[in-house]
Amino acid sequence: MDKFVVVGGKRLYGSVDISGAKNAALAIIPATLLAAGKCRIDNIPDIRDVRLMFNILRNLGAEIKMLNPNSFEIDTSAIRSQVVPDAMAKKMRASYYFIGALLGRSGNAEVAMPGGCNFGVRPIDQHIKGFEALGAHVRTENAVIKASSAELLGGSIYFDVVSVGATMNVMLAAVRAKGLTIIENAAKEPHIVDLANFLNLMGADVRGAGTDTIKIRGVETMHGCDYSIIPDQIEAGTYMVAAAAAGGDVAIRNVIPKHLESISAKLVECGATVEEFADSVRVAADGRLTKCNVKTMPHPGFPTDMQPQFAALLAICEGTSIVSESIWDNRFRYVEQLLRMGASIQVEGKAAIIEGVPYLKGAPVRADDLRAGAAMIIAGLAARGATEIEDIHLIERGYENILGKLTALGADIRRVEMPDEESAKEDKKAI
Ligand code: EPU
Repeated sequence: MDKFVVVGGKRLYGSVDISGAKNAALAIIPATLLAAGKCRIDNIPDIRDVRLMFNILRNLGAEIKMLNPNSFEIDTSAIRSQVVPDAMAKKMRASYYFIGALLGRSGNAEVAMPGGCNFGVRPIDQHIKGFEALGAHVRTENAVIKASSAELLGGSIYFDVVSVGATMNVMLAAVRAKGLTIIENAAKEPHIVDLANFLNLMGADVRGAGTDTIKIRGVETMHGCDYSIIPDQIEAGTYMVAAAAAGGDVAIRNVIPKHLESISAKLVECGATVEEFADSVRVAADGRLTKCNVKTMPHPGFPTDMQPQFAALLAICEGTSIVSESIWDNRFRYVEQLLRMGASIQVEGKAAIIEGVPYLKGAPVRADDLRAGAAMIIAGLAARGATEIEDIHLIERGYENILGKLTALGADIRRVEMPDEESAKEDKKAI
């Protein structure tokens, strides 16, 4: 099984360019099903989840042409199926966007229950509630979600929980529903706004994305367009925290600093220097930083997808920090790995109490999921000695060329290749 080996103690210097946003791309790619015509999409991150998404789209009958590793032309005019098979759907969470996109396109969708990172129960009841409010009939048979509607009609939806996935999925269907749809208690993440901008460029009428009320007036046809995906807030945040944990001075380029404010504020609270420019931020740190408390919240709060990485930093800060997770039930599995490295952390329900230790020690650890894996890298960069990280295919689901980007900043990180690995075979099949 492939591993990363990180030898800690190297400070990070230089600049890193941030890729397009994974969680925007994963909704925008299926959204191309709504267009009659070709879409050219730039700034698509070259990551495993995107390759899986392309495989699903191809399997439905789409033509996908690579213009360069981050730009693709997608033509969905010859779609011949509305079925996303189990083997494809269960590889990733975002396969659920095919329900909304296929419903919007043709009034029919059959998508096996989605997979994805494991951090507790991940229901999709709010997605179903939204589709039903648009008049769709939704049932689950043998773990396959079957949604159909002779004619989608605009409706009012009040989400019981703020859900990124449900907000985007219902947007995908509602842009083609007849009349006005009002989504209340909508998620406000930057990728919601990005999806709305993409849909509007294709001819949709979506207003209010980025606030908690989104109004969508259905249109009869939508057309192809050229679009560039926003930079990845979480990838940027991960490099910011890596610079703070390892020490050094790093420019994180091609970002929207506004999207990083909750992360910047916490780094400053810990004693790091964060400077904002028009489309970059600079993070510098020298010596041991100090504790702070973090509570994850929907945007614009501190993102849950930065929680493990920030906890890795707090593990070596001076003082006792409390990290509270309010989005997911079980997102502290990585703590066990940090303990192996000498961290002092106690998990009590949905909070982790972190008593900062002066240093971590390299150890064999595993990536429990995508962001947990990023946390292991950060811990490894700051630790004394070598950290071997297993299950790195989970990290590569969401970080483009993380090895190359960190190496360019001066990190000592290498991949130990095991060519027979199952995930490597899958990657070769993709695209
Ligand atoms: N929820 C429900 N019912 C639903 C949907 C969600 O109860 O129908 C609950 C969830 O159980 C959770 C909360 O609502 O407690 C928020 O879930 P949300 O739907 O917002 O999460 P998601 O759409 O499944 C996306 C990202 C995650 C990220 C969350 C929260 C994608 C593909 N995934 O998941 O990203 O953690 O939003 O911001 O966009 C990652 O990138 O590492 C990642 C896990």
